Amino acid sequence: MKADNIYPIFDKMLSRADKEELLGQRSVMVWFTGLSGSGKSTIAIALERELQQRGVLCRILDGDNIRTGINNNLGFTEADRVENIRRIAEVSKLFVDTGIVTIAAFISPSNDIREMAARIIGQEDFLEVYVSTPLSECERRDVKGLYAKARKGEIKNFTGISAPFEVPVAPALTLDTSVLTLEESVNRLLELILPRIQKNGNV
Ligand code: ADX
Repeated sequence: MKADNIYPIFDKMLSRADKEELLGQRSVMVWFTGLSGSGKSTIAIALERELQQRGVLCRILDGDNIRTGINNNLGFTEADRVENIRRIAEVSKLFVDTGIVTIAAFISPSNDIREMAARIIGQEDFLEVYVSTPLSECERRDVKGLYAKARKGEIKNFTGISAPFEVPVAPALTLDTSVLTLEESVNRLLELILPRIQKNGNV
């Protein structure tokens, strides 16, 4: 096994509880899933700002800082998407274990992929948020022009067009940005998240 002769020192390092104490918050994983252009990153960014204003330290992971960096060798085959999400989940776990409210915004298109992420991070810390904006609306917006290319066959395996997206079975929250304003989405998230991360009345 590759992991032979490795001696973890986690028992000697300061714990998550120590980090949470230092920060005066509890950490949690907020995992957005949804189609490209559904609004995941926009909501994640607005949520981070609201939490920061309340003194909560957050870290966003999304395509721009992951697929151009740690995952720049991965594409969009099923196997690459699994590896993309596996690494993201492992990195997220490090942030969660550091007491940081961690927000991931990736398509993560299947139940298996999202279950893998939840397993790696820990079910009890994993809040799945489904951004359910319909395909028709994502395609109408086509912010990046990718749906048009996918329809012409210029992009293969494009989620929603030529690759599948499975609707989450039991998300903690569902947000449809064709119905809700950004402020409404963020308020629903705050209602869900704030009670979980409050500590010592600081948050
Ligand atoms: S995931 O499926 O592996 O979770 P991820 O969220 O990292 O996907 O990346 C999705 C983003 O990559 C999309 O928002 C889009 O900008 C871009 N992209 C490029 N090619 C594809 C494709 N074939 N399918 C989906 N998204 C793609």
